[in-house]
Amino acid sequence: MPNSFHSPWWKSAVVYQVYPRSFADANGDGVGDLAGLITRLDHLQRLGVDALWLSPIYPSPMCDAGYDICDYTDVDPLFGSLADLDELIAQAHERGLKVLLDFVPNHTSDQHPWFIESRASRDNPRRDWYIWRDQPNNWRASIEGGSAWTWDETSQQYYLHFFLPQQPDLNWHHPQVVAAMHQVLHFWLARGVDGFRVDVVHCVGKDQSFADDPRCLAGEPMVKINDQPYSHEVLRGLRRLVDSYPGDRVLIGEVNIRSTARVAAYYGASDELHMSFNFPPLDAPWDPVVLRMCIREVEADLGPLQAWPTWVLSNHDNSRHRSRYGGSLRRARAAAVMLLTLRGTPFIYQGEELGLEDTVVTARTRVDPGGRDGSRAPLPWTVQAPHGWGPTPWLPFAADADVLSVQAQESAADSTLALYRRLLACRRRSTALCLGDWEELPSHPQVLAYRRHHEADERLVCINFADSEHAFPLATPWRVEIASDGQGEGQPFSGRLDPEQALILCR
Ligand code: GLC
Repeated sequence: MPNSFHSPWWKSAVVYQVYPRSFADANGDGVGDLAGLITRLDHLQRLGVDALWLSPIYPSPMCDAGYDICDYTDVDPLFGSLADLDELIAQAHERGLKVLLDFVPNHTSDQHPWFIESRASRDNPRRDWYIWRDQPNNWRASIEGGSAWTWDETSQQYYLHFFLPQQPDLNWHHPQVVAAMHQVLHFWLARGVDGFRVDVVHCVGKDQSFADDPRCLAGEPMVKINDQPYSHEVLRGLRRLVDSYPGDRVLIGEVNIRSTARVAAYYGASDELHMSFNFPPLDAPWDPVVLRMCIREVEADLGPLQAWPTWVLSNHDNSRHRSRYGGSLRRARAAAVMLLTLRGTPFIYQGEELGLEDTVVTARTRVDPGGRDGSRAPLPWTVQAPHGWGPTPWLPFAADADVLSVQAQESAADSTLALYRRLLACRRRSTALCLGDWEELPSHPQVLAYRRHHEADERLVCINFADSEHAFPLATPWRVEIASDGQGEGQPFSGRLDPEQALILCR
């Protein structure tokens, strides 16, 4: 049964992030494409996810892997065509899968016709669609670092970019920019997309005094500190627009501020984001003290606002969680149990369900100017190299691509893929896991334990972070429903946890 029988669907959903250039390659050019994704929808359906979020598929010079867009309402030929995207939406919907696109409001490509006009002359009608100044301030850019201002020789002014110089920031304080970007959302909503992941949405409002920021002196880039009231006004406009469509379309924001309390503000009074990413748990190491703190913060800061949390362990900008946790597959699998049982909507980054590590990137294979290629390697589909891809994939595969391939794991009961499938099925069976309250349970400091509870449905989750066994005694009998290492499922719980083992217990 699809999870969407709950209302709204996104609260009980599991979202799967597709990084299109590395998901599946239908035309054999070594770069993933939409046709490839369509042929592999079965994998996602069998996995049991509810929605796909696609990183950008729009026409782009690819200086920032598609986050530098030169046409918001088309598909880059590298990935296919608009017709392919329509086909993807139709086929995903037939399978009960929602489709979310990446909406990048903060900046365009410097090759976008709007910026080409804007930089043509100071009196161009689109000049103020971007942010031009005679003097730079001390704001710092991200990805390559350095100043957030680049000098334009032709028009003799500096333009602002929070990211690469090839990604000029739009001026959302200009009503025509707001209107043009609203048109983009209408375009996709009318085509049937179910919502958007909104890229660095906390960056769109800019301090109009353009004062120096002392935190930039300490090297902080604007993406981690920009937090202006006007971004909230922009968000309320986007929310009204999205809510005017039927079917619970959703706005999920990337708010990259390292404070859960500040992130909470981007839910507004239920009139801004439906959900926001929250980075502290994604930054956290394999450490029960740090993770416990992150989870408590989410409950304390978001709970009272009725703001629905999200949980992310890996994405295309960060090391995969298996690599961050020291390369241990056992830890990565225990973490998956945590990801899929906390209160909120979990996001699985493609390849996580295979237990992939980062690929090793050398000076020769490096593509991203920000050095984020590690987590972006192609998914290995088949055991045999090139693993279902054209002969020269755009990045090298991660280690053990043969044994971690979908084909190798498909029918192995103890595989990581099988664990993810069981976990997702278990969530579907349990309203406590999808929607229930979260309550921490007393446990050894190395064990994180909590209870999920909704009406008559109840689950306990316990995760042993230590490399030694730990007791977790319970007064009444419980049964192991899921074990991160597959051991003892269906058996009565013994009251002990193996090293780096996570369990879901049911009555
Ligand atoms: C977001 C994206 C990242 C991109 C940046 C600029 O953080 O996730 O990949 O480089 O925004 O668009």
